[in-house]
This record gives sequence, C-alpha cells and structure tokens, in this order.
Amino acid sequence: TYVIAQPCVDVKDRACVDECPVDCIYEGDRMLYIHPDECVDCGACEPVCPVEAIYYEDDTPAQWKDYYAANVNFFDALGSPGGAAKMIEQTSKLDHPMIAALPPQNQ
Ligand code: F3S
Ligand code: F3S
Repeated sequence: TYVIAQPCVDVKDRACVDECPVDCIYEGDRMLYIHPDECVDCGACEPVCPVEAIYYEDDTPAQWKDYYAANVNFFDALGSPGGAAKMIEQTSKLDHPMIAALPPQNQ
C-alpha cells in the first residue's frame, strides 16, 4: 500500500484524490488516509502531492514510519467502505489519535 505522511497534516491539498482510480484516499479532519486493502498500488497519487506527503510503504522516510500504522488503523472502525466519496461526511470528522494530538502543522 501507499501511505500518507506528516506533510499532509493541516494542508490537505487533495490533488491525490482526483488521481486515485479506486477512490481509496479518505479525508480525515486534519489529513487524508489511504486504505491499505483498497489501494491497488498504482502509484498515481504519489507524484501529484505538492508537499510530497505520499510514499510507497517501504519507502516512507524513517521519521514518518508511524504514519503507516496511522493510515492502516484509521480504518479499524470503518472497515472497507469501498469508496471515499460516499464516506466523506463521516470520515472528515475523524483522525487517528496520533494525528489528533499533534500541534498545528505545516503552517
Ligand atoms: Fe495531502 Fe498531498 Fe493528498 S497534501 S491531500 S497527500 S495531495
Ligand atoms: Fe490510489 Fe495512490 Fe493507491 S492513486 S490506488 S492510493 S497508490
């Protein structure tokens, strides 16, 4: 899977969402999260992020390794909805606890 990391927090450019062919990039309150089971590893999202927040899981920079778990665990209570657009009302009020606890980022 691909992973969204810290540079997305409080930025949420959303360019990635338009590129994803399977609509597996879900919008949280402070960042977006890639569904690990729905992502087909096409890689289309990675080059369009203007702040370079997106990485293939094995290529996530060391200081952001925790974001793998943040992306995966964001979906613990959501399961596999099969599409981000229809979930936006619900997911955009949520964040992984690690993200929710961060002070303002990337301002
Ligand atoms: Fe975030 Fe970059 Fe997408 S800032 S919303 S990962 S385009
Ligand atoms: Fe979508 Fe990016 Fe995965 S475009 S399929 S989230 S690699």
